[in-house]
Amino acid sequence: MAIPTTSGTGSEVTPFAVVTDDATGQKYPIADYALTPTVAVVDAELVMTMPRGLTAASGVDALTHALEAIVSCMASDYATAEAYEAARLIFAYLPRAYSKGTSDIEARQAVHNASTMAGMAFANAFLGVCHSMAHKLGARYHIPHGVANALLIRQVIAYNSEEAPTRQAAFPQYTHPMARERYARLARYLGLKGKTEDEQVASLIAAVGELEKTVNIPSSIKDAGVDEKTFLAGLDELSVMAFDDQCTGANPRYPMIAEIRELYRKAYYGEI
Ligand SMILES: NC(=O)c1ccc[n+]([C@@H]2O[C@H](COP(=O)([O-])OP(=O)(O)OC[C@H]3O[C@@H](n4cnc5c(N)ncnc54)[C@H](O)[C@@H]3O)[C@@H](O)[C@H]2O)c1
Ligand SMILES: [Fe+2]
Repeated sequence: MAIPTTSGTGSEVTPFAVVTDDATGQKYPIADYALTPTVAVVDAELVMTMPRGLTAASGVDALTHALEAIVSCMASDYATAEAYEAARLIFAYLPRAYSKGTSDIEARQAVHNASTMAGMAFANAFLGVCHSMAHKLGARYHIPHGVANALLIRQVIAYNSEEAPTRQAAFPQYTHPMARERYARLARYLGLKGKTEDEQVASLIAAVGELEKTVNIPSSIKDAGVDEKTFLAGLDELSVMAFDDQCTGANPRYPMIAEIRELYRKAYYGEI
């Protein structure tokens, strides 16, 4: 039985856990169905005391789970349905859970449910390169997991939306780049503006940025306080480690190490 006291990881319904080796600073996800709890108790009473920073970080972590599950090579109708609705709930309720969290149980329960639904989605569809990069970035520079995702997800959405990638994803059932149409469909589900798919994806990226701003998450790795010289010196190693992360395999666009490096660089300066 698992009882979450944060609204983010979805661990109460997933076969995943994340370990950090304090000796090396390395962070690595482990996956085994034996890790899936039999029962999850998803009770908002237990998240009312979450401080603002944790509410923001864990909420954006759950949103990133939904955003990665929607476009994953392993996406299915079941996982997609949960991921779309989880994303809608987070956009609708996270600002309230953040600003009035100690008293607004309706908003807390909505975000708590969204976190578990996003967990069910990525338990089946898996994640993608945003989580690969966030694991390594967070471990090396001591950035909370949700914040690390927040600093990278907009760059990853733009990257995945490319219709002519350098390399196609590795899964045979993924017949053509589908990420752009799936993100665009989410934008329409959220009621965002845009006539073409490109415009809808741009609206989605902007909406994610707005939400992050509302919950006071820095807009770049630089603003998060990571020293420029140190970051650039460690960038090659970080990119190789992110490529080797277990989450990379389900990403809809097969990433080159040089492309991961460029995503990190853009996220450092807050460029999309
Ligand atoms: N399914 C998975 O395996 C999965 C998915 C995503 C993230 N993760 C991992 O989970 C970790 C992040 O977990 P998290 O976001 O739950 O945060 P956390 O467990 O790291 O907790 C952060 C801090 O908040 C405190 N806290 C927890 N609940 C509280 C409450 N209700 N009120 C006040 N304080 C509270 C904790 O004691 C801790 O000090 C990262 O290491 C991340 O990599 C795992
Ligand atoms: Fe996560």
